[in-house]
Amino acid sequence: MIRPFSVVAVTAMVCLGSVRAEDDTKMATEMKVVSKQLKALRTIPKDDYAAGAEAVRKAHEALLAAMQYIPVMVEEMPDGEEKAKAIADSRRVMGLSYASLCALELAYLEKDPAKIEAAMSKVKEVKKEGHKKYTDD
Ligand code: HEM
Repeated sequence: MIRPFSVVAVTAMVCLGSVRAEDDTKMATEMKVVSKQLKALRTIPKDDYAAGAEAVRKAHEALLAAMQYIPVMVEEMPDGEEKAKAIADSRRVMGLSYASLCALELAYLEKDPAKIEAAMSKVKEVKKEGHKKYTDD
């Protein structure tokens, strides 16, 4: 038997889920994929370099997709020189982030733990710069 309460609860969950998805900008949706793939590295065995490289490849593919968008914070700036600079600079930082993720994939392909660690530090450093400048974090 289908209880009315279950119908209400399931409908509410579906609605809340879709509201949250709609709240995300296209950029945030792609960024979440980057984040998910990098988090997956924690569960992949350290010596499974092929799986690591694949997760990082998926991460930088998503970052490349994110790069076509402008951060909301920048989009909302009044038109003018400052906005043009912020657009160019946010693209510069995302480009650096893309390059550091590609270097991380290379380090996995080279099966080099020291290079992996160094590349991961760079990935985190650039992400920090991007979020500090262009999000409310
Ligand atoms: C490894 C690199 C990165 C990861 C894992 C990452 C992760 C994320 C995540 C998970 C979100 C969604 C946050 C939320 O809605 O709760 C997000 C949003 C965002 N990230 Fe990143 N990010 C990275 C690099 C960057 C870089 C380099 C920039 C430079 C501009 C950047 C700018 C932003 C912006 C602006 C948003 C908000 C979306 C918007 O304004 O539309 N992120 N990021």
